[in-house]
Amino acid sequence: MSNKEIIELAGCNYMHNYAQFPIAIKSGKGMYVKDEDGREYLDFVAGIAVNALGYGDEDEKKALQSVMEAGVYHTSNLYYNSHAVHAAAMLNELAGSDRVFFCNSGAEANEAALKIARKYGSAKGRSTIISFEHSFHGRTYGAITVTGQEKYHKGFAPMLPGVVYARYNDLDSVKALIDGDTAAIIAEPLQGEGGIIPGDKAFLEGLRKLCDENDMLLIFDEVQCGLGRTGKPFCFQNYGVTPDLLTSAKALGGGLPMGACLAFGKAADVFQPGDHAATFGGNVAAAALAEVLLSKLPSLSEAVKANGEYLTKKLEEIAAVHPDKVTGVRGMGFMQGLDLSVSPRDVISKCMDKGLLVCSAGYTVLRFVPPLIATIADIDKAAAIVDEALSEL
Ligand SMILES: Cc1ncc(COP(=O)(O)O)c(C=O)c1O
Repeated sequence: MSNKEIIELAGCNYMHNYAQFPIAIKSGKGMYVKDEDGREYLDFVAGIAVNALGYGDEDEKKALQSVMEAGVYHTSNLYYNSHAVHAAAMLNELAGSDRVFFCNSGAEANEAALKIARKYGSAKGRSTIISFEHSFHGRTYGAITVTGQEKYHKGFAPMLPGVVYARYNDLDSVKALIDGDTAAIIAEPLQGEGGIIPGDKAFLEGLRKLCDENDMLLIFDEVQCGLGRTGKPFCFQNYGVTPDLLTSAKALGGGLPMGACLAFGKAADVFQPGDHAATFGGNVAAAALAEVLLSKLPSLSEAVKANGEYLTKKLEEIAAVHPDKVTGVRGMGFMQGLDLSVSPRDVISKCMDKGLLVCSAGYTVLRFVPPLIATIADIDKAAAIVDEALSEL
C-alpha cells in the first residue's frame, strides 16, 4: 500500500485524536526509517524517545527470536518469567532502587507511583500530591490530573481531587503549598512535553529536602528523560538527588509497550498482594527487549554524554545563525530543544521534505530525541537540514 492509501484508510477508521504527519512508516535500519512509498528519513524522533537502539538491532532480533522459539509471549503475573525478573534486577542495579512494578506505559507507571504515594500517606491521613506547571505525566485520569497543563484537562473535568500545582524550578512556590495533608511531590527532573525544561540542581535538591523533612515521597517521572537519554542511565544521577519512586517507560521495552515503577527504601514495600496489578505487566517479549537495552545502557549513556555535548554545540550554532527564528537552546544529552519564534510544525514539515524526522514539544519548541546510537555524522546531517529548513522560512 502507498502512504496515501494508508492515510485514507486511517481517515475512515481512526478516531481523530491525533494530528498526524502524512507518512506511514514501514521499515527501518540503524538511524533510518523508510515510508510506504520507499522514501528514507534520518530519524531524530525515535518514536518519541522510544527506539533507543534505532532499528533492526541484531541483539533485539535475537532476543525476540528466542522468545518466539520458546512459544510463550505472555505468562500473566500468576507465574514468574525469567525475562521480567532479570529486567527488574537490572533496573534495580542501574538505578540503585529496591523493587520494581511492571506495567505497559508511562501513564500506568505514574498511576502506580501515585497509588503508592497515597497509600504511604494514608498512614498519617495525608493524600495531597504536589505537581508542577508545564509538567506532563500521561493521559489516564490520575496522570492527566497531575499534568500541570490546562489544555490537557479541558473538557474532561472533574479531575482527581487532592492535586495542587507549584511553579517548576521555584522552591518557594512548593513550600507555600505544603501542609499537613501533603503526601508526595511528583516532578520530571527534565520536563519534556512542556517544552524541554531542565530542573535546576538546587531546586531538585530542595524537593528532596522538603520530602525528607515532612515525611513525603518524592516521585521522579523519568518516562522520557530516563534510560540513558541524558548521558547517565537515569536522569536523577546527573543531579545526585535520589527519588523514593521513579517511573519509566518509552525506551524500556525496545519498542514494545512496557512501563515500570521503581521504588527506593521506604516506598519499596508499600504495595502488598492485591493492592495493584497489570495483566500484561512484565510481558515476556517486552521484558526480553528490556534486558537487551538495559545490558547496553552503561556504554550507551557514555556515548550519549559525549555526542549530546556535540548536539548542544550544533544547536547553539544554528541559534547563532538564526537569531530571528531561534530564541533558545535547552536540554541535556539526547533530549534537547530549540525554542522557536516561528511555528515548529512548519519547520518539522520542511525537515520531513528534506529527509529528517524531528518533532515538537509545547507550543514553541523543536525537539530532538534521536535514538541513543546517533553518531556525530548523524548529528551533522540533522543540523544541516534544520539549518536549511530555517533558512527557507
Ligand atoms: C514525562 C512523561 N511521563 C509520562 C508520559 C506518558 O507515557 P505514555 O504515553 O507511555 O502513557 C510521557 C509521554 O510522553 C512523558 O513524556
